[in-house]
Amino acid sequence: TAPRWEARADAVVLGSGAAGLTAALRLRELGVRVLVVTKAGIDDGNTRWAQGGVAAVLGGVDGDTADTPAAHAADTEAAGAGLCDPAAVADVVGGGAAAVAELQRRGAEFDTTPGGLARTREGGHSAFRVVHAGGDATGAEVQRSLVAATKGQGLPVLEGHIAVDAVRTSSGRVVGVTVLDNNGVPGVIRAPAVLLATGGLGQLYGATSNPELATGDGVALALRAGAPVADIEFVQFHPTVLYTPGARGRCPLVTEAVRGEGAVLVDATGARVMAGVHPMEDLAPRDVVSAAIARHLAAAPGGVDDHVFLDATAVDRFPERFPTVHAACSAVGVDPARDPIPVVPAAHFACGGVVADTDGRTPVAGLYAVGEVARTGLHGANRLASNSLLEGLVVGRRVAEAIAADVSPALAGVDGEAAIGPDVGAGPIVDRDQLQRVMSRYAGIGRDADGLAVAGSVLDLAQDPQLGESLPWTRRRVEDAALTLVARALLAAAASRTESRGCHVRSDFPVRDDVSWRRSQAIRLTPSGQ
Ligand code: SIN
Repeated sequence: TAPRWEARADAVVLGSGAAGLTAALRLRELGVRVLVVTKAGIDDGNTRWAQGGVAAVLGGVDGDTADTPAAHAADTEAAGAGLCDPAAVADVVGGGAAAVAELQRRGAEFDTTPGGLARTREGGHSAFRVVHAGGDATGAEVQRSLVAATKGQGLPVLEGHIAVDAVRTSSGRVVGVTVLDNNGVPGVIRAPAVLLATGGLGQLYGATSNPELATGDGVALALRAGAPVADIEFVQFHPTVLYTPGARGRCPLVTEAVRGEGAVLVDATGARVMAGVHPMEDLAPRDVVSAAIARHLAAAPGGVDDHVFLDATAVDRFPERFPTVHAACSAVGVDPARDPIPVVPAAHFACGGVVADTDGRTPVAGLYAVGEVARTGLHGANRLASNSLLEGLVVGRRVAEAIAADVSPALAGVDGEAAIGPDVGAGPIVDRDQLQRVMSRYAGIGRDADGLAVAGSVLDLAQDPQLGESLPWTRRRVEDAALTLVARALLAAAASRTESRGCHVRSDFPVRDDVSWRRSQAIRLTPSGQ
């Protein structure tokens, strides 16, 4: 399909969460003509659902001398299970205090104590360094302040527009994107810099903490543009979303900070789930806690348990400290001051993604990536709690500076051919419900070679004739094409990694193999589609 409208900018930012808006605001400050494109409303992304906070060592900024960036880096690398890039970790955690200060300048209001900013702990953190807002509504405050700044500065934002594919020159440089507007009309935005800030891919799974729009769009677009993705097999399952029978779609998060303030995981008999599993017990890194819950459930007599409980009855002033969690519990008749909260792990965060450095540059000229869509080496095989908002804020600023340095007037007139066509699918498109069922069953917390192979063949056979090439491209179809392609990449990476590490748990290879596998795998799309 040929584009029916056209726009131009110096930089186009795809996505309007913490990473995208931080970059866009900084690009504007640097005098770069920026256009933000977001497939839903400006504040509909994942950021606003983040609860726990922003992990940041405030040091001199806030008079906290007990904690250090080196300690934060060590915790990040311990959680990352041997796959973090220490230089990337040092870069990002070193930017924490400045990122929090910049956000405050933009209007964000964090919770305070008489000594300065209030800080809590989450899994894997050796210190109280997680800054929060509204108790457990940190993401909502971050998003509110960035949206207000974006509107205040009059930044152009195209809401309800979904990016489809990169426009490339014959030499492979990215020079724009094809886009469906809010009426499904195809167009092209020509820009010498395209920044992916499209967030995660939780919708690969039936139960996730992510909203419906986390469909892996940026990873798929990057693959089709010839960029490598890495660490895509490491999908983090948050240990505690609120359990409701048969829940699908976005499940309310029960922030790890609840455990940071003393709550413990127990089973139906009241036995502690994390006792003896890890020295940090209930505050062990997330991958350890989620895997322990999965094992505990599998070992339950008769295999009938499908959830555990978070006993938060000893947490002081629960409704004031955790208003979001309290409201979600109340909605299902649970009073956390009296009742243990029923919880279960759910897909939460893509630790891998599009290969990028901590300036957001990918190996493909003109294509940049930041936030959850990117793989910078910060997270390794398992992200440390509250390092995601941190990464979006720190790298969001840096990528803007990289783009401003890279975009030269000579690039402004360089165009490629734009069309929305069969390449988008890069293979059969699978019905979303079926894909989620298969991924949840075979590629969730527990994996093995047989299951991964079954999942691959189900996807191969599952082409929905309703989704054939004759149909017009719609947002739903672009998303389903992305989910299908990303699922295939994930299954390939998970099958090839014959060990267990971080969020990737193989029952047939239960041991971490530092001899063969202390390395990331990069996946690229071959011309045949995989
Ligand atoms: C949480 O509050 O538990 C989630 C925060 C995060 O994913 O880092």
